[in-house]
Amino acid sequence: MQISKHKTTKTIIIISDSYVWKKYQNYILKMLKKNNSVEIIKWIGPRGEKLKSIKNYELATNHILSSSHDINKNSTLIAIGGGAVSDFAGFIASTLLRGIKWTIIPTTLLSMVDASIGGKTALNTAAGKNLLGTFYPPSKIIVDLHFLKSLSMLDYYSGYGEIIKYAFLSSKINKLLKRLDKVHVNEKIINECIAYKNKIVKQDPREEKGIRTILNFGHTFGHAFEKAFNLPHGIAVLWGIEFILRHFSKNQKLLSTFYDFTTNIANIKIDLYKKKANPSLILNFICKDKKRSSSTHIKLVTLEKIGKPRVIEVTINDIRKKLIKEFGHEYIC
Ligand SMILES: NC(=O)c1ccc[n+]([C@@H]2O[C@H](COP(=O)([O-])OP(=O)(O)OC[C@H]3O[C@@H](n4cnc5c(N)ncnc54)[C@H](O)[C@@H]3O)[C@@H](O)[C@H]2O)c1
Repeated sequence: MQISKHKTTKTIIIISDSYVWKKYQNYILKMLKKNNSVEIIKWIGPRGEKLKSIKNYELATNHILSSSHDINKNSTLIAIGGGAVSDFAGFIASTLLRGIKWTIIPTTLLSMVDASIGGKTALNTAAGKNLLGTFYPPSKIIVDLHFLKSLSMLDYYSGYGEIIKYAFLSSKINKLLKRLDKVHVNEKIINECIAYKNKIVKQDPREEKGIRTILNFGHTFGHAFEKAFNLPHGIAVLWGIEFILRHFSKNQKLLSTFYDFTTNIANIKIDLYKKKANPSLILNFICKDKKRSSSTHIKLVTLEKIGKPRVIEVTINDIRKKLIKEFGHEYIC
């Protein structure tokens, strides 16, 4: 791993979470200290979604700006961690002094294949997930598979969630995954996912043309399940994919492909993570989602076949009916 670009950088701001920093600080500092001219400021926050709060944004930016080190437009911020860290740190990079350069060192599978790519940054609010955010691509992403050795099984599963999403959107990734007996995370799969996301993002960097929308496959319901049940992002996305295929796709073969991937290849028992809920609560989260197109309709990404996603508009009432089917009448308030 080299960070050659930082040879000319005076101050480096490190943002990470408590677990990653404790486990990898020596590894990271060794890497950065190869360059003597570097001064380091660090802000280490809590793990997971808790990090992406307005409160932590305030704490981190106050800490950085009140530091005795010189922070200027030549300073570089480095996000070291999973997707929560890069979403949060990217938001800071995009707003600090109206934008400074930043680098991501992704340390989870999910952040390697998805969250670090595409330049979306985000904070959560009480109203919903990722409702504050900017488009602000990093100048560099350093993927080092060494970090995956310490990943928990649940966080691996979460990463598989996004890989399986790509396997529905891209027939190339689909074939690649099908050739495996069990998902062995290897460089080839990671590189294909990165290449696929880069290709889509390049065509529609700010999600204005409707092309990038396809990457939200599984995410409209996924985000609501993630928030309602406190699930890891990729697990919630898997449930979101299954929900879409079950309720909004006419092609039932896709559902068996889904179970092939989750049960046979990735060995994820998605039912274990499902919980009962009030459909109104889930609907409430869905209505706050950014994909809402009007007061009565929501945009959903569904699939005609592997490699052929389609954006459809459905009524909120239709979604309500499907949620009742999934969770039952008795929970309606
Ligand atoms: N910006 C985007 O385009 C985009 C895309 C997908 C997901 N996301 C966001 O990414 C987040 C989910 O990503 P994530 O699962 O990487 O989140 P995360 O950063 O919360 O990491 C998950 C857990 O793994 C731990 N961890 C990180 N690296 C580790 C390592 N090497 N070994 C052991 N444990 C490690 C973390 O401490 C944390 O507890 C969500 O907030 C989601 O909204 C963003």
